[in-house]
Amino acid sequence: MAPLLSLITAMLVFSYGPSGSLSCDLSQNHVQVNKESIVLLHQMQRISSFRCRKDRKNFGFPQEMVDGSQVQEAQAISVLHEMLQETSNVFGSEHSSAAWNTTVLHGLLSRLHWQLEDLGTCLVLQMKEAESALGMEAPTLAVKRYFQGIRLYLKEKQYSDCAWEIVRVEIKRAFSLSTNLREMLRNQDGDLRSP
Ligand SMILES: *[C@@H]1O[C@H](CO)[C@@H](O)[C@H](O)[C@H]1NC(C)=O
Repeated sequence: MAPLLSLITAMLVFSYGPSGSLSCDLSQNHVQVNKESIVLLHQMQRISSFRCRKDRKNFGFPQEMVDGSQVQEAQAISVLHEMLQETSNVFGSEHSSAAWNTTVLHGLLSRLHWQLEDLGTCLVLQMKEAESALGMEAPTLAVKRYFQGIRLYLKEKQYSDCAWEIVRVEIKRAFSLSTNLREMLRNQDGDLRSP
């Protein structure tokens, strides 16, 4: 089911207006909710990161994908959407609810869900030219590969407390690094923002 869903999502995401300008404007709340997600990711900490230093790993975050000067707006939406979806999958898993404080975890998951819905509005606005999908596959694939690495790592480490701690820090960092993409989408001229 997941691959089909991603494909449909991809078809929805991968287009932007004929003028080359993207008709998407994230709601004002989006950046705020993202900050709250980062705070919750921070609050989730249960054990010392330092204690887990032997488990550290470079997951190869695709840094260029969140560089606002290199990424087109349509790509930014697909990258953010993929990040949110993958993060929901990682933290929404059964193993995750065993590892974290469920109150804080649910707070995080509901914010991720809200952000996905908010981005979904952008996707619908862009349901025009599916052919521009070609140029957008690479960034989304880079994000997918990155999260595949994270899921594999958790599995290899048998979902140990330290493995989750390393992943928590990693994803918090990824969210912080993607903040500028969100700001880029929010700061467009906003023709489509509802009056
Ligand atoms: C979970 O987090 C909430 C909110 O920070 C806190 O009130 C609660 O005591 C925590 N529960 C456990 C089991 O640590």
